[in-house]
Amino acid sequence: MHEQVKLPNGMVDLAIDLTALRHNFLQLRQFCGPGVKIMAVIKADAYGHGLLPAGRTLSAAGADCFGVAYLSEGLSLRRAGISVPILLLMGILPEEAAAAVAADLDVALFRPDIAQVLAAQARLLNKKARVHVKIDTGMGRLGLLPAQVWPFLEQLAGLPELELAGLISHFAAADWADQSYTQQQLEGFQELVRQVRARGWGAPASHIANSAAILDVHHSHLDMVRAGIMLYGSPPSLETPPPVELRPVMSLRTQVIQVKDVPAGASISYSRTYITPGPVRLAVLPVGYCNGYNRLLSNQGWVLIKGQPAPIRGRVCMNLMMVEVTDIPGVREGDVVTLLGEDGDRRLTADDLAAWAGTISYEVHCLLGNSNFRRYIE
Ligand SMILES: Cc1ncc(COP(=O)(O)O)c(C=O)c1O
Repeated sequence: MHEQVKLPNGMVDLAIDLTALRHNFLQLRQFCGPGVKIMAVIKADAYGHGLLPAGRTLSAAGADCFGVAYLSEGLSLRRAGISVPILLLMGILPEEAAAAVAADLDVALFRPDIAQVLAAQARLLNKKARVHVKIDTGMGRLGLLPAQVWPFLEQLAGLPELELAGLISHFAAADWADQSYTQQQLEGFQELVRQVRARGWGAPASHIANSAAILDVHHSHLDMVRAGIMLYGSPPSLETPPPVELRPVMSLRTQVIQVKDVPAGASISYSRTYITPGPVRLAVLPVGYCNGYNRLLSNQGWVLIKGQPAPIRGRVCMNLMMVEVTDIPGVREGDVVTLLGEDGDRRLTADDLAAWAGTISYEVHCLLGNSNFRRYIE
């Protein structure tokens, strides 16, 4: 008798395993030790895993604070009852200052005009606004260049409504085995932190380590680490295997909706990029790029059916794609297909999909997670 497992979510089942998320956090906690605070980075809807479910799970597991990109994310977390510090990593727009202060959100700060409006709003609300001054030590992205830090701090000294809660920087290449640039950034950052403290600014929390640095550059942990990708179970570096056991949190499954035998010379999908070299059995799957399954995966990589790899044939369409099952006996309509996750003793990881599409696991998570209905497993 042919067993067919029903997918719980219709044609496309994107599952988020909150137990794995908790496991990864606890691995991180143990790895860092009790002296280092952990900021869980849950921007971009927790890298596609869902802001609130991830926030609640990580909060219960003991995250000291959260990092998000947008004011709206911070406000959602506050409305959900998350009371630990939340840092708006990209800062705010001037018009967002009132809401940020009212909700006690920490703000990454690098613009004098924002410092002014934030202080003004704090004064109005009779509160202190907590800020983390963002320093560009070599990422070449957001933040003050080291030479701009002192004039900026002088300005802050005249704004008593602002509390300097942190100094923040970001690594550009902590995922490389060659750590020389990372080391250079770290030394530059630490020297600034030392000077800021020596000049009477108290002890703002210093933080620079992302997942790759957390796992590979122990002395970069400083007061706090900011963990993103490792919480979601993907190794942050392709060059250095993680020293802790990370469990993938996201999986994606679908089912075969048609099996068809086509002759040699048949043209498969848009633009005729695959012509069958001989008689071929295909399975048609109801997943495509509207589900975040990248069109760059056309003719690249495979899915798993009955624990066996089934290669992608032709272009990935908006809602459909074709895989070859000639070598997998007995495939039928309704069979479960794993696009991300494990089947038998084989597993497809976000890094596999990323390598085929020429991108990184971060993007795979964001695209899949934010394009599909998420089913949560506790
Ligand atoms: C400022 C900042 N800190 C920390 C992180 C977390 O990085 P990762 O996901 O590599 O741990 C990110 C993610 O992009 C970030 O932008």
